[in-house]
Amino acid sequence: MAPTASSPLMEAEGVTVRFGGLAALSDVGLSIAPQSVTGLIGPNGAGKTTLFNVLTGVVRPQRGTVTFKGRPLRGHRPHRLASLGISRTFQGLNLFGLMTVLDNVIVGADPLGRSRLPGMLTGLGGYERDERELADRAMALLEEFGIADVAHALPATLPYGLQKRVALARALAAEPELLLLDEPASGLSGADLADLAAVIRRCSRTMGVVLVEHHMDLVMDVCDHIVVLNFGRVICSGPPAAVQADPAVAEAYLGTPVQEDAGD
Ligand SMILES: Nc1ncnc2c1ncn2[C@@H]1O[C@H](COP(=O)(O)OP(=O)(O)OP(=O)(O)O)[C@@H](O)[C@H]1O
Ligand SMILES: [Mg+2]
Repeated sequence: MAPTASSPLMEAEGVTVRFGGLAALSDVGLSIAPQSVTGLIGPNGAGKTTLFNVLTGVVRPQRGTVTFKGRPLRGHRPHRLASLGISRTFQGLNLFGLMTVLDNVIVGADPLGRSRLPGMLTGLGGYERDERELADRAMALLEEFGIADVAHALPATLPYGLQKRVALARALAAEPELLLLDEPASGLSGADLADLAAVIRRCSRTMGVVLVEHHMDLVMDVCDHIVVLNFGRVICSGPPAAVQADPAVAEAYLGTPVQEDAGD
């Protein structure tokens, strides 16, 4: 039987991560529904990126489990994620600087040559066909993101907002079922932010999206469900209105010194 719309896409339970004496995550649980946007928020250092790293197998928790589509997510290599159906973007850009925009997106579609396998097995010359298919798919994504005209440029030559689009296009190239976005709005403003909100909403029609963001307007606008971390613990979880009204959330933010960009 096909999974019902209500069965979670990903679940984490009891996840605990320590770095030396620091508890980065303590007994964290999380349930990500398909075709929805789950916001993951909290002050600087709350553990958001660490949780992303656990959900993507980059960091192995000392305790706890993560399941994806009902199966334990463990023992896999981070670069195999795309073939499982999971894509992420990184805090910062993490683009391949010596590759063109187009190649960055092609790599996102097929980091390990997954699509070549059927051709190799059947000996029907699938390799070239798949290469062409990948390039076509990547180009279509660039067009969708309005960056087809810079397909052959190196990412670093582009304005930051366009580089962020390349990173997003790369994550979507593998046609994931789960998309994890770590601060996709950082450095964006105005029309770029509105475009990002539209992209996130569009994505959630076909995949589960997890959004780590400090940009609260965006979070409240696009999220169906929000999980709030503070000092590595989940302090609140619910729909945007409930999270906004929770005094513990306000206290977590107010109780943490805001990092000013004092330029020092
Ligand atoms: N590899 C590491 N080694 C040691 N400590 C780490 C490591 N990664 C993260 N930490 C610490 O774990 C805590 C959680 O960090 P994390 O990066 O997950 O926070 P965050 O919520 O993503 O913060 P931000 O909003 O600033 O990105 C912080 O105290 C951080 O210094
Ligand atoms: Mg972070």
